[in-house]
Amino acid sequence: MSNPYELAFQRSIKDPEDFWSEAAENCHWYKKWDKILDDSNKPFYRWFVGGELNTCYNALDYHIENGRGDQTALIYDSPVTKTIKWFTYNELRDEVARFAGALADLGVKKGDRVIIYMPMVPEAVIAMLSCARIGAVHSVVFGGFAANELATRINDSKPKVIVSASCGIEVKNVVRYKPLLDGAIEMAKSKPERCIILQRPMHPAPMIPGRDLDWYSIVSVAKPHDCVPVAATDPLYILYTSGTTAQPKGVVRDNGGHVVALKWTMKNIYNVDAGDVYWAASDVGWVVGHSYIVYGPLFRGCTTILYEGKPVDTPDAGAFWRVISQHNVRTLFTAPTAFRAIKREDPQAELMKKYDLSKFYALFLAGERTDPDTLQWAEKNLGVPVIDHWWQTETGWAICANCMGLHHFQVKPGSPTKPAPGWDVRVVDETNKEVKPKETGALVVKLPLPPGSLPTLWNNDAGFVEAYLEEFPGYYKTADAGYIDEDGYVSVMSRTDDVINVAGHRLSTGAMEEVLSSHPDVAECAVLGVEDALKGQVPLGFMVLKAGVNRDHAHIILEVIHMVRARIGPVASFKTAAVVKRLPKTRSGKTLRGTIQKIADNKEYKVPATIDDPAVLGEIEEALISLGYSKARGK
Ligand code: COA
Ligand code: AMP
Repeated sequence: MSNPYELAFQRSIKDPEDFWSEAAENCHWYKKWDKILDDSNKPFYRWFVGGELNTCYNALDYHIENGRGDQTALIYDSPVTKTIKWFTYNELRDEVARFAGALADLGVKKGDRVIIYMPMVPEAVIAMLSCARIGAVHSVVFGGFAANELATRINDSKPKVIVSASCGIEVKNVVRYKPLLDGAIEMAKSKPERCIILQRPMHPAPMIPGRDLDWYSIVSVAKPHDCVPVAATDPLYILYTSGTTAQPKGVVRDNGGHVVALKWTMKNIYNVDAGDVYWAASDVGWVVGHSYIVYGPLFRGCTTILYEGKPVDTPDAGAFWRVISQHNVRTLFTAPTAFRAIKREDPQAELMKKYDLSKFYALFLAGERTDPDTLQWAEKNLGVPVIDHWWQTETGWAICANCMGLHHFQVKPGSPTKPAPGWDVRVVDETNKEVKPKETGALVVKLPLPPGSLPTLWNNDAGFVEAYLEEFPGYYKTADAGYIDEDGYVSVMSRTDDVINVAGHRLSTGAMEEVLSSHPDVAECAVLGVEDALKGQVPLGFMVLKAGVNRDHAHIILEVIHMVRARIGPVASFKTAAVVKRLPKTRSGKTLRGTIQKIADNKEYKVPATIDDPAVLGEIEEALISLGYSKARGK
């Protein structure tokens, strides 16, 4: 007997147009689409072509018109500033409309880009929704990135305006954003016309006359701006994500497919209704923050929580339980690393006992594979379903999940359960042939991708095809490897490229290698991700020095650590490196990063038949042992 999940899944694959047009009926359109799925320009697909809508209207005004004006839309809970603020739908809409007016006064119009480089303050959400309101394209840059990364994004997206804040607060440290912003603009070739700065009292920043404007001053004179209808296929935002090279990829999200898909997921994946309190403990700088702090919960008429704090230290490992009980949270979405941090501080979950979690319904985890230990610890202590789900910046929502609104499958630890409706997931070998159940291969998705997934990369259709569609014709390449078992459960095991996952943050080892290579004493280098009990993975660097360099290795190591922090940002967590005489290579000169990684992770490995000189592996093992890593021996 088929369950609702199976019925929905089959329908979404056999007749995606019918499936998604029904979901689209639940959204507000100024003009309905002419065509649900336009596949006339394969491999580019477009959803709801000819339709017109406004994302901000669907997030705010729609609910006000349907009687939710006085319901809380957003709770800003900031243990680092000891502040809690509530915004009703009416209040949030008014703030957004005024800031949208302020942007329009600066000449920002439909299609113009606005970069948002802000900490977790309500003004970040207001700025995002204001862009959506006037049809401008926002690009949020995570605060943990350094000036150089911000400059790269400025050059690619060419924003008319940048919205930023004087500072962010990381536990007890004040992180000054403004010098990073000024440095980035200095470095960038493309210059914004204006910067709008939110002055925070903990550390107001000096302003640059003629360029910088004070948030409060411009808002005080701005008139509310109405929603501007945009095409369903117009871009809503660009979100840069790490790829193989140092140049991040500008993932584009459209307006129409995004509203339709995210609103659908709120009920069918997360099983939340309008009025429920939904909390994604992430950051607006990541895709989880876009989809599930801001857009998804608001499309559904939920109350969303913006949390400016950490799972531990703000003030302790009971922080999440305090927020859940104080605000009656139904659903929490975070990364497994947050739970590992809590478990490390409070292994018996003693702090949980202080709080009433009776309204709590389910925990969703993503960003990295949920390790079975963390899953079982959370299940045992919380006594609610713990759902691992797999997705990517590119996809915008879950590729695989236990869709709680459709059918609650038994959880298999280590698996994000089954493909969500819309995602025809396959496992293929390097010749693009499907492999047998349980055999590991490349995880790919048969085209077309469902609404809400990336239609292309910003100004880079060729890059989109090259990165995702070329290697496995007819499929989208996820760049994850894994398998599907006999029951249809998917397991996602590792990346197939140079991307690593550090505390749920996606980073490029290639970008770090570029930084190390630019050190004057470094001849060549390799950076790889090694297992870490808290962060899942952390980067580890190996450097071969140029002939004749006889400086103290410890100094060189400190210098490269500092360089990665300065150029990529603290979020890279690049803290360990070693100097070695040689790197292990194949006879054709390819560095054997995978083998080094296995040695560091204490996993069995085979000495590759193509290795140039097996003795180098012994040298690497010694270096790893001196850094405190494994004693594994090759076979
Ligand atoms: N602005 C400025 N700096 C930031 C920042 C931001 N928004 N976010 C992080 N950083 C800094 C941190 O202060 C830290 O700096 P440090 O090297 O000076 O200590 C560095 O970047 C690394 O941060 P992080 O990886 O978050 O490590 P952490 O040790 O501070 O905290 C966890 C570890 C597990 C508690 C933390 O990663 C966490 O809460 N994760 C939750 C999951 C999550 O948000 N995932 C995102 C995708 S869902
Ligand atoms: P990001 O684009 O930052 O969301 O990172 C996406 C990558 O994180 C994926 O390609 C996976 O490698 C990894 N990832 C995210 N969620 C999961 C999960 N539930 N299980 C395994 N890997 C995951």
